[in-house]
Amino acid sequence: MTRIFSGLKPTGHLTLGNYLGALRRWVEVDQHRAEALFCVVDLHALTVEHDPARVRRLSRQAATLMLAAGLDPERCTVFVQSHVDEHARLSYLLECTATDGELRRMIQYKEKGTRAREAGEGVRLSLLTYPVLMAADILAHGADEVPVGEDQTQHVELTRDLAVRFNQRYGQTFTVPRATRPQVAARVMDLQDPGSKMGKSHESGAGIVYLLDEADQVRKKIMRAVTDSGREVRYDRESSPGVANLLEILAACTGGNPGELAAVHQSYGSLKRDTADAVVELLRPVRERHAELAKDSGYVEEVLSAGAERARAAARPRVDAAYAAIGLLPGR
Ligand code: TYM
Repeated sequence: MTRIFSGLKPTGHLTLGNYLGALRRWVEVDQHRAEALFCVVDLHALTVEHDPARVRRLSRQAATLMLAAGLDPERCTVFVQSHVDEHARLSYLLECTATDGELRRMIQYKEKGTRAREAGEGVRLSLLTYPVLMAADILAHGADEVPVGEDQTQHVELTRDLAVRFNQRYGQTFTVPRATRPQVAARVMDLQDPGSKMGKSHESGAGIVYLLDEADQVRKKIMRAVTDSGREVRYDRESSPGVANLLEILAACTGGNPGELAAVHQSYGSLKRDTADAVVELLRPVRERHAELAKDSGYVEEVLSAGAERARAAARPRVDAAYAAIGLLPGR
């Protein structure tokens, strides 16, 4: 059976980008057709300046939102990365497989490293090695597929390279995974700055729709989205990135096609209104279910604890095999 692994990093409140690029597909498709594991990858939240209490809060919230969105613990495994030692344990072996040069080439390292330096903060070594931990997340679980948004493509490519290299050097140990992406909205852009990805940690929240925003806030943010000075609604990412972004969001929400949706809208105002309505309706049940689940933290904790146990049992033999293959003496 196909195995699927993916994760969300608790560095901020989850966004519409996380939902359309990843989470919604896990819920609607992936958990039904494969042996699937979905993870709050909390160790990854420590690669930049962080507040311990906030990481804890956001980790719980991310797990609650994953369940609120519809991940069903009877169908898939939901867990927290730091509860399963195998991830960090495998990461070290992959650090001994990756090179310094290939990690320095990672776009996210360059971007976030520059931002940290500009803010006068030190760049944590873990920001450089982060993609190796991500590779360990995926390879420890023998995933065939990794459903992610477009921004994670380079990291999954690195994961493939490390798996192939490890297998060539030490014998067949890892499955070589591939990234899968949604047909539309694989890269949802910031509504105020359509040249940048809608990201959890963008400075101003005005261009970001958070999954837990109230309906009014969602509407306001979408109605104020930057478009361009033209009038005609055209689907062209190059010349009209703001409009294209709205068309993709609308298409993702309604199951339509961005080009066809452009043809049926006569003005930016009507496109924004329809997009706002569609997003509000899409997120309403998630927000409602989140409010219910948040009252019952015992339930979420139980799910995470059972999930960690399953994930640990599944990953352990694979990671043990990698330890043996690389030349380490087996312990008892
Ligand atoms: P993270 O937490 O930044 O994002 C989680 C998922 O959401 C997708 N995503 C988007 N998709 C479309 N448009 C956007 N604006 C947008 N923003 C985020 C991401 O592509 C991702 O699929 N390194 C990963 C977390 C991770 C992981 C893993 C993922 C760690 N280990 C193993 C898969 C497998 C990250 O930072 O995702």
